[in-house]
Amino acid sequence: MANKRFSLCFLFLLALLPSQISAADESEGREFVLTLDHSNFSQTVSNHNFIVVEFYAPWCGHCMKLAPEYEKAASILSSHDPPIPLAKVDASAENNKELANGFEVQGFPTIKILRNGGTLVQDYKGPREADGIVDYVKKQSGPATIEIKSADDASAFTSENKVVVVGVFPKFSGEEFENFTALAEKLRSEYDFAHTLDAKHLSRGESSVTGPVVRLFKPFDELFVDFQDFHVEALEKFVEESSVPIVTVFNNDPNNHPFVSKFFDNPHIKAMMFINLTADTADSFKSKYHETAEQYRQHGISFLLGDVEASKGAFQYFGLKEDQVPLIVIQDNDGKKFLKTNLEPDHIATWLEAYKDGNIEPYRKSEPIPEVNNEPVKVVVAESLQDIVFNSGKNVLLEFYAPWCGHCKKLAPTLDEVAVSYQSNPDVIIAKLDATANDIPRETFEVQGYPTLYFRSASGKLTQYDGNRTKEDIIDFIEKNRDKPDQQEQVKDEL
Ligand SMILES: *[C@@H]1O[C@H](CO)[C@@H](O)[C@H](O)[C@H]1NC(C)=O
Ligand SMILES: *[C@@H]1O[C@H](CO)[C@@H](O)[C@H](O)[C@H]1NC(C)=O
Ligand SMILES: *[C@@H]1O[C@H](CO)[C@@H](O)[C@H](O)[C@H]1NC(C)=O
Ligand SMILES: *[C@@H]1O[C@H](CO)[C@@H](O)[C@H](O)[C@H]1NC(C)=O
Repeated sequence: MANKRFSLCFLFLLALLPSQISAADESEGREFVLTLDHSNFSQTVSNHNFIVVEFYAPWCGHCMKLAPEYEKAASILSSHDPPIPLAKVDASAENNKELANGFEVQGFPTIKILRNGGTLVQDYKGPREADGIVDYVKKQSGPATIEIKSADDASAFTSENKVVVVGVFPKFSGEEFENFTALAEKLRSEYDFAHTLDAKHLSRGESSVTGPVVRLFKPFDELFVDFQDFHVEALEKFVEESSVPIVTVFNNDPNNHPFVSKFFDNPHIKAMMFINLTADTADSFKSKYHETAEQYRQHGISFLLGDVEASKGAFQYFGLKEDQVPLIVIQDNDGKKFLKTNLEPDHIATWLEAYKDGNIEPYRKSEPIPEVNNEPVKVVVAESLQDIVFNSGKNVLLEFYAPWCGHCKKLAPTLDEVAVSYQSNPDVIIAKLDATANDIPRETFEVQGYPTLYFRSASGKLTQYDGNRTKEDIIDFIEKNRDKPDQQEQVKDEL
């Protein structure tokens, strides 16, 4: 589940990343990034109070792009006082897989910050270019919360476009202060924390506020909120909840990306409206959407507003087209999707209500049913899956493929041959479905890689084919598993 959410978010952000992969810098001389593997990882990590570790795979494009930046950052941080080490582990190497699994590495690159000889592990959530890495890592290696002593300190600290949490205390001791510091340690990778003795340093601060009080600044909605319960758990909940915008904005502004990640990480139902944010009509959509969001967010729905210019990845993922904009798509926790296209501002609230009342039919991404389908391997799309695979009464071998997948291309001529050899047998269908352009019923088919082959016998027995991808083996399998017409009668009689 977590994995699926990650990949969805990743798809959104992917559209923003520069597509070209810069060639890795073949810098001469010393390498500053430490190379670690299963043989020396624990030993090295236990010697450091603070170390950054990248888990990468040699073939991963984002890793290649990161490499020269990471190396540059390592060289800068090596002259920090004290030096801050950056390391890397090839997580794809067989010997290192157990190590990577121990850190729940699910995608590449995964970067972790290890403290205290490796006893505390935290995700790296910073930028991926050298200067950004240096700033982020420096801050992570320093104190979790910094003192604000002047208005200048405060404006330097809060002017950035992110969530910052400031504790106002009459003195820097006592349980409230300790609890605040403990929370800062825990959440330091996600938020900036500071503490002060004097609330008047803060923008919008009043000298009458003596604390202890926690003031959370955010670049959206009501701009700041105060909180006075210093139980660690209550504080954490307050920070997590107050830092989520009523409507998360997704556009080309990287400052918004942490909020987009948070949007996809939360367990709520996700409503996403895509409009042209630079068009004249945007404001009326925005205000109606905001109203609706305020009304429905108590019902476990989170809201995102996406600019169509930035949403190519999302449109591909959901099978949407630009001429359907403005639109809203909802994805619920079962993976069901609901779609309203060519929206008008006044539709927003009524459509949401209809959705909540269960009056909207789920939306399924599908290519159009092909008008001509007379190649040996039949084309199946989401809209024709029921008819061809489930209701045809035929034995069907179905390939789930992706157009870019090399193994699928390799399999294609073999499948063709298999199909040709069954052409005179009307009881057997060989078919393929482009799984990137059509939604698959996930409760029936488990498709985790391409190609995935399923066989459904005429009587309804579903089996995944994981044999060798040769003509002989596939035909062998079909022959073993298919129902012959007379058998089928028998099965029917038994039912
Ligand atoms: C860890 O071991 C690998 C493989 O033997 C080696 O290439 C690497 O330099 C070692 N790293 C350290 C920090 O000793
Ligand atoms: C600090 O947090 C702990 C753990 O939640 C709690 O038991 C304690 O009461 C808190 N102290 C204050 C002053 O809120
Ligand atoms: C969005 O609107 C602006 C201003 O009307 C227009 O120039 C732009 O082409 C539109 N973008 C799309 C993707 O429709
Ligand atoms: C696939 O082929 C390999 C080598 O050709 C063979 O060892 C293996 O048993 C085959 N697997 C199946 C399921 O037929």
